[in-house]
Amino acid sequence: MAWACQVGPRSPISRARSPAGATPPTASPGSTPPTAARCSRATTFELAGRTLTRATLAQRRAGGPWRWAELLPVADPARRSHLGAALGAPRLAVKEEALNPTGSFKARGMAVAVSRAIELGAPSLVAPSAGNAGGALAACGAAGGVPVTVVMPSDVPVVNRGEALAAGARVLLLDGLIDACGAVARRIAAEEGAFDLSTMREPYRVEGKTTMGLELAEDLGWRLPDVIVYPVGGGTGMDGRRPGGGLRADRAGVQARGVRGGAVGGRGDARGRPGRAIRGGDRLVLEAVRASGGAAVAASEEALTEAQLLAARLLGSYVAPESGAALAAVRALRERGDLDGGEEVVVFDCGIGQKYPPPAGLAAAERVAG
Ligand SMILES: Cc1ncc(COP(=O)(O)O)c(C=O)c1O
Repeated sequence: MAWACQVGPRSPISRARSPAGATPPTASPGSTPPTAARCSRATTFELAGRTLTRATLAQRRAGGPWRWAELLPVADPARRSHLGAALGAPRLAVKEEALNPTGSFKARGMAVAVSRAIELGAPSLVAPSAGNAGGALAACGAAGGVPVTVVMPSDVPVVNRGEALAAGARVLLLDGLIDACGAVARRIAAEEGAFDLSTMREPYRVEGKTTMGLELAEDLGWRLPDVIVYPVGGGTGMDGRRPGGGLRADRAGVQARGVRGGAVGGRGDARGRPGRAIRGGDRLVLEAVRASGGAAVAASEEALTEAQLLAARLLGSYVAPESGAALAAVRALRERGDLDGGEEVVVFDCGIGQKYPPPAGLAAAERVAG
């Protein structure tokens, strides 16, 4: 049970049991839990003054409002989420990446890669992107004062295009898939001397993404969970061979994005083995997954949409379709017996759902008279 005026450290991982995104701090041993009603302003500030020290706050590096639990008029913020149970993994936790600037984990890789490119004297930057990477690159390049070109498939979500344009990037649209955009990016790199930040074409994006693994370990008290489920596109976040550990868990389930393109080998076969369209970067991903004792899983568009909606309704978070795919992979891993339901599973929610067109088949909003 939790109460409003608790003290102590808390995990910044968004626990599946907390729909608002985090578990509130736990009481210090032997303390009497003050009820919300008993916490007047004076006593909350008094308590905060005693408990919100540099040390305790340093332990609460994330968690949104619950980081300030002493000051909130809430008796029991820990309403349980049934998402883990619904997916067959009751010990499920979700690592939120949507809080990064530009709303996805892509900002981690791009921040490091762009900074390094600038250090190396790059006059301009270029990358192909089917979505979030382009926005993150545009934002990081703008912050660093370097011109950015993003090459995108013409059907890319309008938000991704808009955020890149808003940051002042040159956006080139191509009727084709991400591979074709990559070819254009390489041409621009050759012709204009732009630093090519395409997936797996330089080492620094991977380095930036290793901070996800570091942070996860930090969140859990310098250990890793039994299983990490991570949505793979190009795969830089999954390459676990880097210093810092990347995402090496005891076992890692990888979800290939199937229908949305850029996936590891497309849909794969019925046993979850990837299909034939394996490229260089994909092979590195598969090696990393196998080295961890993990597996590659493909999710259909229907399964990922279902899981995305499940998260919206049970987790309290509108996650990206890729994250829906990772959640769908948890269910698939359980169904095929790769999970027995007792494991501590962490799913990476790599981005916000708001950047994408809403899932098909939603109920219509109702019109009312004012
Ligand atoms: C929200 C989200 N999740 C996962 C991925 C896959 O990332 P990566 O290409 O690093 O494997 C992407 C990018 O394609 C993404 O935007």
